[in-house]
Amino acid sequence: MVLLQASVSNFINATFIVSGLLFILALAGLSRHETSRRGNAFGMLGMALAVIASAVSMAHQDTRPIAWILMVIAIIIGASIGLFKAAKVEMTGMPELVAQLHSFVGLAAVLVGINAYIEHPNADAFSMYEMWIGIFIGAVTFTGSIIAWGKLSGNIKSAPLTLPGRNWLNLGGLVAIIACGIWFANGGGWLPLILLTVVSLLLGIHLVAAIGGADMPVVISMLNSYSGWAAAFSGFSLGLSVLIVTGALVGASGAILSYIMCKAMNRSFVSVILGGFGQASASADSGPQGDIQEVDAAGAAEELRNASSVVIAPGYGMAVAQAQYPVAELVKKLQAQGTEVRFAIHPVAGRLPGHMNVLLAEAHVPYDIVMEMDEINDDFKDTDVALVIGANDTVNPAAMEPGSPISGMPVLHVWDAKRVIVFKRSMNAGYAGVQNPLFFNDNTEMLFGDAKASVDGINSNLPALEAAK
Ligand code: TAP
Repeated sequence: MVLLQASVSNFINATFIVSGLLFILALAGLSRHETSRRGNAFGMLGMALAVIASAVSMAHQDTRPIAWILMVIAIIIGASIGLFKAAKVEMTGMPELVAQLHSFVGLAAVLVGINAYIEHPNADAFSMYEMWIGIFIGAVTFTGSIIAWGKLSGNIKSAPLTLPGRNWLNLGGLVAIIACGIWFANGGGWLPLILLTVVSLLLGIHLVAAIGGADMPVVISMLNSYSGWAAAFSGFSLGLSVLIVTGALVGASGAILSYIMCKAMNRSFVSVILGGFGQASASADSGPQGDIQEVDAAGAAEELRNASSVVIAPGYGMAVAQAQYPVAELVKKLQAQGTEVRFAIHPVAGRLPGHMNVLLAEAHVPYDIVMEMDEINDDFKDTDVALVIGANDTVNPAAMEPGSPISGMPVLHVWDAKRVIVFKRSMNAGYAGVQNPLFFNDNTEMLFGDAKASVDGINSNLPALEAAK
């Protein structure tokens, strides 16, 4: 019997270690296009093994039947919601879904922490610290992610909430949470626990509400990191090594991604963590107004026929219109007539990291003509035509001037091209709500309409592929 007990716990530990390794392989795989599918498969296998080992661990511990019943019900409900959401979600809705999932992780960490206290009200001080830190990070992640979801889905205005003395409010909240945490860990009981939970929930709301639309990508990856650390602390409370490892991996990789995105967006990492870099809001009407020049699909096709170099800057609108397929056809037609065509990818174009790369890969655009912003920004001045397809904030020259909510964010210098054609449906501002002076430049023409219809229109005005060869 003792031998059986020992071999079962060896099995559980070994399986958790294998799961942890699979999660590391998953992250490594997901870092490159070519290996991303394999990375996903490793992640799924690791998660399946972790669930199996957890079930064996429960059985091993003589768990009461009611716990089994509750666990199975929770798995069925969670898996059904997950399957439904994953099957229904559009690519453009991915960040909202990710924000929702982060909020679940945060809420779970809060519940695990509170449950740990109910089960062990007289635990040692170290365990008490684990509990309140897990609850604190979980609560900030929970409400912060709900606000992020609201901003991404348009249910909450994307402009930053700028309360007077907001940095002092954040600092005061943090001091209150730490004080309550120390009080709780020293036998303070329920009162400090409830206080620190409530203040953490409010802090999460305020931290994210204070950040403006254009900076949401960094916020999402920061919440991703927080959700990882929250899970890791839950792992301590539950005594689950695999959760500690997984949480730490998510927390660390999310922090690295946030750092990379901060650098790409020219933002300070520390001020992001403190929720302090949202600027005063600007509306679509507050920017420059002037005369614009319009072009139709036939006119744009004519200009492209005469171009020897073309750079395409895609953005969120290409994703909404699902224009990547006609864009891929346009690329083939231009290449067939001898035009050099490349793509310029801004690090936060669209609504999730790598969004444009995924869409272009879907449409079988070769990787070697898809350039990062830094690789191609200096080449716009030698480009005949820049096509801005559903991009706005990422090509906004206002970012080069002080005083705009997007000031300091590096952007694609499309205006340096001899001719710029902007594909959009109206004069509406981009995600950050800032008017775009690019539209009023002398060398810019607006091609109004759904991006897919516009590119289809251009394609139909260019020679058929066979004829062009
Ligand atoms: P945005 O600034 O969001 O602008 C997209 C433009 O596409 C809009 O001006 C819109 O104008 C146009 N559009 C929408 N649907 C269209 C359609 N069917 N056909 C043609 N045009 C259409 O795009 P961006 O340049 O890609 O910038 C991304 C923004 O999102 C940045 O502010 C970024 O910070 C933020 N963000 C990014 C991420 C990540 S990680 N990538 C995550 C969250 C937020 P009309 O309405 O006039 O058509």
